[in-house]
Amino acid sequence: MQVVSTIAEFRAARRGFPDLGLVPTMGFLHAGHLSLVERARIECGAVAVSIFVNPTQFGPNEDLARYPRSLSRDLDLLREAGTALVFTPTPAEIYPSGFTSRVEVGPIGEVLEGAIRPGHFSGVATVVSKLFNIVQPSRAYFGQKDAQQCAVIRRFVRDLDVPVEVVVVPTMRDPDGLAMSSRNSYLTDGQRAQAPVLYRALSAGQDAFQAGETDAARLCLAVRGVLATEPDLTVDYVSVADATTLEELQRADRPAVMSVAVRLGRTRLIDNVLLDPL
Ligand code: PAJ
Repeated sequence: MQVVSTIAEFRAARRGFPDLGLVPTMGFLHAGHLSLVERARIECGAVAVSIFVNPTQFGPNEDLARYPRSLSRDLDLLREAGTALVFTPTPAEIYPSGFTSRVEVGPIGEVLEGAIRPGHFSGVATVVSKLFNIVQPSRAYFGQKDAQQCAVIRRFVRDLDVPVEVVVVPTMRDPDGLAMSSRNSYLTDGQRAQAPVLYRALSAGQDAFQAGETDAARLCLAVRGVLATEPDLTVDYVSVADATTLEELQRADRPAVMSVAVRLGRTRLIDNVLLDPL
């Protein structure tokens, strides 16, 4: 496994790998990240993983400074997982002085997480676009856990004719249903015990959908009813939206994503499930 930190070194190392799969990450890796690596290893000639805590996708009051990091452990996990190349650039390598360009994705980046985190998805689209240009992968792997991020990336890849196939991998969960996330490490033991309510709530919504309920307001009420059983939790949103455009739906009569975002103390948690009428 080769670990490189500059774009020039990456480009030189990349020459040996005609069919490369890319897994972009911000590090502090867990089994969710590794499921993306595993899928890429099956589908591509070789796997590259980037580890970069991207400052432009964090708001001024967000957790950039305290975002968890564990590079040597991450590298051990990636070596075990059969990764060929790891790219660990510094912020100055990605954003040299004088950098001003951005990728803007329009309304799809302004709803849900984008409404609460202005500029977040432009930051994501910009860095992912740069990583695609540096790595030049045949395929790139993203987790369904971040459903809006997947929709945003699919959108700019389509809009800008980016020659990369985007692959979305199912959400990995702890045995109690909590979606794995680097940010789960912020939770106190008490909060960690409360957090599985997100998936219980989404499962209640999914059960109602499978029992024939398609009215989005009623589906959201089913989700909110379960979330309300944990009074310490503040709900940012519960949504049923078109899976591709993320426009809110009144009826779940086409492929939809049902998503929730909550705050538990200072920690924000998001999760989602797909509602597929087929
Ligand atoms: P990060 O949060 O490190 O996540 C890297 C990738 O792992 C993302 O595609 C994310 O959706 C996926 N992932 C996280 N938790 C997962 C889980 N429980 N199951 C399956 N996949 C999971 O997302 C980012 O970094 C950044 O925004 C990035 C795309 C790297 C751009 O900076």
